[in-house]
Amino acid sequence: MKHDDALLHVRGAGHFVRDIPVPRGTLHAAPVPSPAAHGKLRAVETAKAEALPGVRAVFTAADIPGQNQVGNIVPDEPLLASGEVHYAGQPVALVVADSLDAARRARPFVEVEVEPLPAVFDPRQAFARGETIGLFRTFALGDVEEAWPRCPVVVSGRADSGGQEHMYLETQSALAVPRDDGGLKVFSATQSPTLVQRTIARVLGLAMHQVEVDVPRLGGAFGGKEDQATSWAALAALAAFRLGRPVKIVLDRREDASWTGKRHPYSSDYKIGLTGDGRILAYEVRFYQNAGACADLSPAILERTLFHATGSYFIPNVRASAASCRTHLPPFTAFRGFGAPQAMFVIEAAIAHAAAALGLPPADIQRRNLLRRDDELPYGMRLESDSPARCWEELDRRHGLASLRARADAFNRGHALTKKGLAVMPVCFGISFTTTLLNQAASLVHVYADGSVGVSTAAVEMGQGVNRKIRRVAARTLGVEVDRVRMESTNTARVANTSPTAASSAADLNGHATRLACGQILNRLKQAVVEERGFPADELGIENEEVTRAGRPIGLTWEKLVAWAYARRIPLSAYAHYATPGLHFDKTKEKGRPFAYHAVGTAVVEATVDGLRGTPKIDSVKIVHDVGRSLDPPTDLGQVEGALLQGVGWMTCEELVYSAEGKILTDGLSTYKVPDIGDIPEVAVAFLEDSDQPSGILGSKTVGEPPFMYGIGAYYAILDALRAFRPGLPLAFLQAPWTAERTFRTLRF
Ligand code: MOS
Repeated sequence: MKHDDALLHVRGAGHFVRDIPVPRGTLHAAPVPSPAAHGKLRAVETAKAEALPGVRAVFTAADIPGQNQVGNIVPDEPLLASGEVHYAGQPVALVVADSLDAARRARPFVEVEVEPLPAVFDPRQAFARGETIGLFRTFALGDVEEAWPRCPVVVSGRADSGGQEHMYLETQSALAVPRDDGGLKVFSATQSPTLVQRTIARVLGLAMHQVEVDVPRLGGAFGGKEDQATSWAALAALAAFRLGRPVKIVLDRREDASWTGKRHPYSSDYKIGLTGDGRILAYEVRFYQNAGACADLSPAILERTLFHATGSYFIPNVRASAASCRTHLPPFTAFRGFGAPQAMFVIEAAIAHAAAALGLPPADIQRRNLLRRDDELPYGMRLESDSPARCWEELDRRHGLASLRARADAFNRGHALTKKGLAVMPVCFGISFTTTLLNQAASLVHVYADGSVGVSTAAVEMGQGVNRKIRRVAARTLGVEVDRVRMESTNTARVANTSPTAASSAADLNGHATRLACGQILNRLKQAVVEERGFPADELGIENEEVTRAGRPIGLTWEKLVAWAYARRIPLSAYAHYATPGLHFDKTKEKGRPFAYHAVGTAVVEATVDGLRGTPKIDSVKIVHDVGRSLDPPTDLGQVEGALLQGVGWMTCEELVYSAEGKILTDGLSTYKVPDIGDIPEVAVAFLEDSDQPSGILGSKTVGEPPFMYGIGAYYAILDALRAFRPGLPLAFLQAPWTAERTFRTLRF
């Protein structure tokens, strides 16, 4: 597969924010972090640092001309701490100097005096103290209380999943350049250009039109730059605004890992009731989300947790409740899956537990309760697809789930010190922002007089291939080659009021907008030909760069057509807006139709556990995934494989460790283990055939987040292998990740 920027990437020639040639006189900024997790901010002494060579200024909260506020959903996050500090690493001051070295050298000379206050790091403790953010929410279907007495088998337990570092290759960065009108142009490594624009305007007391945000491309984001890129851009903007000089901020890896938010850790209680033959009748779950010190996106992420409480299963009686709990860790944030993986981990824990109680393989319960068309979900929407069962059956047809099971069992009978485990992991993920207003996008298309095409949208290219998909949409709509179409940077002055590139929705939303904009230009061109030649409009088309009548070329190429249309003063640019139709959700009832559709698939994961060393190995992952009519199969394949590996990492080796004072200890790749090339299992991905998603763009389904959750299968495959060693292994309290250390201790102690 060749990514649009592949050649730039392998040559190291692509411009990320840190690579943009800087204007002469650019200054460099280094934030000063809070040394404590919680406390009263007694004093911030800047004089010593300011006197050092090369230092131009040290800014604190008092230097902010507008509001000292960067909170997005809830206004609870100062740009620079004032009065109190709420987590270790919270920005307290900003040193600005001629060089990054000078700024960093001056940092220890900023004296930050904090009077410590008690800190809480555990979400259940925070909940017990009433430290919650937003509403305690409950989604319900049927009546669980009425159902429990009808369940011959009821089990309950607890399942906790850990956080996850995004580990994007490009760390947080921004470059702010003053404009001659008192405004700023800001290059930001963000998924949310408009959020950065709005926040800078708020912090500096400017109008949004005085702040232009430009995003060339991101070196990965995975949700970590949806809200969390904003502060760094706002700090650079503050310094540039105050000093009248360009200012650049680039965090190094350790700073980024220490100060920025990660996937939310969750602690959850569940209770599940089934018939003797494995039909799930009732499920109750309570999620305690560790939100960290500020709301950030936590309430929205909590909502997506609730939407996915029942995973891929139909359960007639459900009560799912959730609280976002405020602790003194860096604010946790969006990460691929946006709260859904944490929910799916718990329902799979409940099923594994129930399966052991019933003496059935978990896959029997999973298969039996899989969602079918028209099944009602706890949030009131009915499933509009047969895909869950189709993907499962196709996986079974291709790989023979029973024979995989038999093979593992036979291996285990023959081996005392090594055991194999197996888990099936179905995924059903709602597509759309659950915040309905965000489901809009726009596209500005220019056809230049030479026939080349430039497209600006709200979508940010972060390696996921959204640019390639949108180029294909434009090319197919206009009837030209993909190479004619160039994607411009994402820029708030060209496309305004953008939603974040998130929720797996950027290709859908911006693809539709681009289709509409290209359609306008196409219609004008066709209309001009109709007027000139007198052809019936409905016979006219553009295919393979030729104007056609009834499918046959008429001897007019795209280039000639465009040059001719330009000479006739026909407008060759168009702007279009798209809003996903049919979405609604009533938060007072917690019912509605929040999603345009569901992205669906099933994986089977095989693992081997070495009982002497305690080391688990994921051997293979076989997947059938529904992408509808794929817009670009190699891009989709890359997304499925990458998301899977990221999910496997979350479940098996990536573990955040904090000191007793709430400082992260796993602040780099030497202490935080991500999957490496040796951990990559054999992966076989098949796309479901004969699938179509009419509401998707050109029949496609979006792909970014859903395959992440196949990684949960890795956890349960390891669990399955461990149960082959220890059939009585207790299941009432499961914790992720299932690291080598945990596996070792489970077998040895
Ligand atoms: Mo994504 S986790 O919706 O930024």
